[in-house]
Amino acid sequence: MEGIITLYLITLFWTSVASAARSPGCGHPLPNHVQAGSKSHQVQLTTTDGLERSYRVHIPAAYDINAASPLIFSFHGRTKTAESQEELSQFSNAGWNPQAIAVYPQGVNNSWQGDPDSTVNDIAFTMEMLDHLLSEYCIDPTRVYAAGKSNGGGFSHLLACDPIASTRIAAFAMVSGAYYQQTSEADCHPTQVPIKCNPGRSPVPVIEFHGTDDHTIPYDGEFRRGECLPAVAHFVQEWAHRDGLGRRNGTTELFEGKVQEYQYGTGDGEGTVTHYRVEGLGHSWPSVKPNSDNPDGTYLDATPIIMRFFGRWALSGST
Ligand SMILES: *[C@@H]1O[C@H](CO)[C@@H](O)[C@H](O)[C@H]1NC(C)=O
Ligand SMILES: *[C@@H]1O[C@H](CO)[C@@H](O)[C@H](O)[C@H]1NC(C)=O
Repeated sequence: MEGIITLYLITLFWTSVASAARSPGCGHPLPNHVQAGSKSHQVQLTTTDGLERSYRVHIPAAYDINAASPLIFSFHGRTKTAESQEELSQFSNAGWNPQAIAVYPQGVNNSWQGDPDSTVNDIAFTMEMLDHLLSEYCIDPTRVYAAGKSNGGGFSHLLACDPIASTRIAAFAMVSGAYYQQTSEADCHPTQVPIKCNPGRSPVPVIEFHGTDDHTIPYDGEFRRGECLPAVAHFVQEWAHRDGLGRRNGTTELFEGKVQEYQYGTGDGEGTVTHYRVEGLGHSWPSVKPNSDNPDGTYLDATPIIMRFFGRWALSGST
């Protein structure tokens, strides 16, 4: 795999990428009911495993049928919906994301693969959605990204760990992610639990946000709902190790020491694995403006940080 699929860094932001790769949907007019810059619309998809699935798509005002746009998937938390994730993650907000198509998939029974109760192959669903989107819209297949909250964050991690999905999606963002591993209660040691992961390339860029007051998916991990949640520091260190970045990080104190930014990697690869430890934050998508997770708001916005992170990465070579 290595050598065929390598990752390169876009040193300038997306807008300056001259020769973007193009999907088969380039040149196609928008579907009749779809308008760039207006509200998101719902799409139905019958998957090859016979399930009726749906997702919401937001086309940015700047969309041009002849210019390849990046694409961002944003996965909701367990019990939540595509609509609530659009509101929470704000990838349809032109102030933060003027350029990328944003897609909010809906989980079966409002949950995702990786949840202890899920029996659905959402990785296959995501690959089918991606195929459909590439054929419908003008998308740069080297600039497809995945983000998610809680169970949706855990699912973004599963995509990053999948031999195929990890070669079709350039970078991954997890917010308060639930990274369940199957162990017995006696074998659940959150700081050491082995994390199942088999990406198809290396390094895989990942960014993770987690609050120290998360009482749903605790920062220190625990045995929960019959499975083992790793400690977040262990989870992040394992990503750095898997990505060949070593176990040491560059630490930056932000917001008067309330947030630690841990970056793994050096030179152009600095922060290929990045983690924000947010003191006092609960099970929330960090947002200065109050959101449905946090009626008081908090002192940092995750979404623009995720946008800057995604903007650094693209796939190169055959995908
Ligand atoms: C969704 O929930 C219903 C009702 O609890 C259950 O019968 C069904 O098997 C669930 N679907 C999947 C795919 O898990
Ligand atoms: C990053 O390094 C600092 C300093 O060695 C350490 O205290 C911290 O725990 C590390 N962060 C993680 C996520 O391991």
